[in-house]
Amino acid sequence: MMKELLAAADEIAEDLTAWRRDFHAHPELSFEEVETTRKVVELLTSFGYRNLHIGAEGVPTGVVADLGNARGRCIALRADMDALPMEETGTCVYRSQNPRVMHACGHDAHTAMLLGAAKILKEREDQLPGRVRFLFQPSEESPHRSGARALVAQGALEGVDAVAGLHVWSGLPSGVVGYRPGPSMASADEWACTLTGKGGHGAMPHETVDPVVAASALVTMLQTVVSRRIAPLETAVVTVGKIEAGTTFNIIPEKAFLQGTVRTFNPEVRRRIPELMERIVRGVAEASECRADFTYNNVLPPTVNDGAFTEMARRVGEELFGAEMVRLAEPTMGAEDMSFYLERVPGTFLFLGVGNEARGITKPQHHPEYDIDEGVLPRGCALLAGLAVRFLEGEGA
Ligand code: NI
Repeated sequence: MMKELLAAADEIAEDLTAWRRDFHAHPELSFEEVETTRKVVELLTSFGYRNLHIGAEGVPTGVVADLGNARGRCIALRADMDALPMEETGTCVYRSQNPRVMHACGHDAHTAMLLGAAKILKEREDQLPGRVRFLFQPSEESPHRSGARALVAQGALEGVDAVAGLHVWSGLPSGVVGYRPGPSMASADEWACTLTGKGGHGAMPHETVDPVVAASALVTMLQTVVSRRIAPLETAVVTVGKIEAGTTFNIIPEKAFLQGTVRTFNPEVRRRIPELMERIVRGVAEASECRADFTYNNVLPPTVNDGAFTEMARRVGEELFGAEMVRLAEPTMGAEDMSFYLERVPGTFLFLGVGNEARGITKPQHHPEYDIDEGVLPRGCALLAGLAVRFLEGEGA
């Protein structure tokens, strides 16, 4: 079946490229993927899909489609559909026609590959020993309004036993599949702190309560969360990304504002960090006689791949493309809302190499000249379909 899926994907290579280029030329921002959704619905309908569930959070973006036999297991395959708020500066013929919107993360390719998997699996529906649910998800790039969280909240994972997805990756050579059991992408949380003192003349600090000095101490002290409180073999980042205070050289301001992000792979470490930070904030505020208002938002959990499912994915990749094309991937401190699905059901999130130096395709994700080697589209399509078939046959968990 694996080789048959690859042959079927190769047969629709031109369609995959055409779909991807159409999405690429007409990118849409998070929760604005109305045209993209319309095209996905049109194609799924032409493949024979019925009873599509369209929309998320009351917005007509995103599509959930079901396939197969209600008696067996159910696997969800996921693609994200949104683009980024940036101007494309590349010169490809299919470059963005929408000003300041660009598919610079490859979600156009994800959507095309999942459409391809939906097509070739539909043609084999009577051979499937279970169900496949296709999640064409809106809004991955806007983590505060995650499309994955929205789909989960409206029941998209009900009755689903496993989930799989992939991300095209410019750091891997074209066609290489990167897998990683366990944590593969970090959590991404956000915090903010306002220190309120008492403003006054820069020449008379003793008559003020200086929030700038307190903020400076806080920046330094926060670094001890990672260096002194988290075990050295764990990985965590506490970043202060923004400091705002004051108006000119000789005034001590009343307030200082700090904001930053926290990243880690370990859910337990993630649970501990806000409390550790808050204790330091309280201590610095107390020592400097400032008032502190500290807020911490859990934004995205870490992306944690299931061991057994990921092992199955490795074998599927090797069967399809050969062992030399499948590699253990490095974890990345970047984050993904695929994590919301993987928090609830086992599964895996793979990387698919799209870099091709010989063809000049070397730009990283989110670069204004980002592009992919389109030769990988059939591979991603076959990989998604292969994962579904193999899981429904009883492997992977
Ligand atoms: Ni992305």
